[in-house]
Amino acid sequence: MPVPRAFQLIAYLAKWEHHVRHVLSSSYPESLSIDALREIAGVSDDRTWLDTPLDYPPLRGTPALLETISRLYATTRPDDIASFAGGDEALYATFHALLDRDAHVIVPTPNYQSLESLPMSLCDVTGIPLDAARDWHLDLDRVRDALRPNTRLIVVNFPHNPTGAVLPRATFDALIELCRARGIWLLSDEVYRMTEYDVRDRLPPVVDVYERGISLNVTSKAYALPGLRIGWIACRDTALLDRVTQMKQYLSVCNALPSEHLATVALAAEAHLVERVMTLARARRDRVGAVLERYPSLFQWRAPKAGVLAYPKYLGRDGAQRFAERLVQARGVLVVPSTVYASELGDVSPDYLRIGFGKANLDAALESFEAFLEDVRIA
Ligand SMILES: Cc1ncc(COP(=O)(O)O)c(C=O)c1O
Repeated sequence: MPVPRAFQLIAYLAKWEHHVRHVLSSSYPESLSIDALREIAGVSDDRTWLDTPLDYPPLRGTPALLETISRLYATTRPDDIASFAGGDEALYATFHALLDRDAHVIVPTPNYQSLESLPMSLCDVTGIPLDAARDWHLDLDRVRDALRPNTRLIVVNFPHNPTGAVLPRATFDALIELCRARGIWLLSDEVYRMTEYDVRDRLPPVVDVYERGISLNVTSKAYALPGLRIGWIACRDTALLDRVTQMKQYLSVCNALPSEHLATVALAAEAHLVERVMTLARARRDRVGAVLERYPSLFQWRAPKAGVLAYPKYLGRDGAQRFAERLVQARGVLVVPSTVYASELGDVSPDYLRIGFGKANLDAALESFEAFLEDVRIA
């Protein structure tokens, strides 16, 4: 079985993230301390956390965690949930449980690279380019044209990394009907769900509306708790969930028990955490927008519909990659060029920049960013 190709985004972040002055590229707002989380969740006085034995939790997760996650959905019971060490492990286990070399997968491009590289290491995959000119629209006719008799899985990720695009409800429903008619699994990476700026853009979790739907989520994004490394899938197909869990026997085996405890506390207070994240995100989206709009000859931008990533088109003649390199070297400000989203399934424009506006240091980072833009203008 071929090893998936190197993960461009993770490699790029790993090279720079811990060495620069300003990280202006994160896909989540600044995280909370354990104490702050416990305070927001209203459990500051509860000492269970300190008394938690540092033992192995059950393979799928503690009963309390599974119960709490199952309540995030309308139709699931704790038995429909399996937790993992992050969303990435959940993706790895799910693809390996579902796919073999006889399968075929369809996935939009650009994408969070796991969504294409993991299936590509297992079977044939077709990429469907999202249409930048139409707000990163997913064309269902193209999905239909890509179907093969052995298409086993379609993968979507809305709200979308990196564009912040959402999928209209009618397209989502039509996609489900297309899958249902052929018994195709639909893996919906919902890690940015709940970060929609307009709640009318929020889709239902796929597990609640499709019997072969697999909802994937993690504490990292809408709850801003990536350090917990708790991800999960929700799926009403018992046999599939058993196979996915079986993969975990060879991966992390189980999560860290303190993380499971804190994730249970966090997800029980979901509404408070989301409110915090979205209050921060709303104000910061406007701040980054105001800066980009001051340089119309350099950036073409549309506010994202969700999340804390802006994805402007860079119009400078040096190109987005060179711009990002010069910016980080001259001013220590890290943004990510869309070259790291290059796909093996079709052309992805190299002309975009991923700018994360969720972090607390935003003002200082934008000041350095803008100082660099002024240098460029003068040079
Ligand atoms: C679309 C998408 N799916 C899954 C993940 C994985 O989340 P985590 O790294 O917290 O496991 C990410 C992280 O950036 C993501 O953007």
